[in-house]
Amino acid sequence: MDATECLLGIRLMPVLALREEATALRLAHILRDVGFQALEITLRTPQALGILETLTRALPELTIGAGSLRTPTQITQAKAAGAQFLVAPGHTETLLAAAQAERMPFVPGAATGSEMLRLLEAGYELQKFFPAETLGGAPALRSFSAPLPEVRFFPTGGINSERLPAYLALEAVALVGGSWFVSDAALRAGDEEALAAAAAQAWSLAHG
Ligand code: 3PG
Repeated sequence: MDATECLLGIRLMPVLALREEATALRLAHILRDVGFQALEITLRTPQALGILETLTRALPELTIGAGSLRTPTQITQAKAAGAQFLVAPGHTETLLAAAQAERMPFVPGAATGSEMLRLLEAGYELQKFFPAETLGGAPALRSFSAPLPEVRFFPTGGINSERLPAYLALEAVALVGGSWFVSDAALRAGDEEALAAAAAQAWSLAHG
């Protein structure tokens, strides 16, 4: 089902690929403390589902979802791990049916006008636009939204602090996702000060 309501009010979504539970927990607390209300844990690492479960239990005040979904089995697993929403880089009939059967808020991906129309027909007004920068960035979204005013976008992929304002300025953009403010080096070094500073800067830019 459409995830508009579930993600209402969220402007910037940290999109995280995590491998280590203790690090993930520290990072999630840092992100919460600087003001983030939602997190997307991508199912791109073998540890992602376990980390998703740990975070949904430890931080019930956050809206935590699963990203990079590719199979119906992952939808069932993500739901069991406590995910409150699902995100996929694209969509198939199988994935749409599985998310519907599980009654899970889902943000399927679209990269062309035909895909956006197909998702609208299936009841999805909130759509992921991925990989946003490769597909033409904010100018491309402005062009797509002219004939498709019903669609609200969740662009991700290659966005950074310089590019963020152009996306958020578009009425068609509901929220933006990205990983640019979570540095791998700072994560590995356990540099909580650097992580908090970068996260706070991104949060302010999105909410300023
Ligand atoms: C995604 O899965 O949505 C993107 O990989 C996140 O994009 P970024 O890592 O380029 O910010």
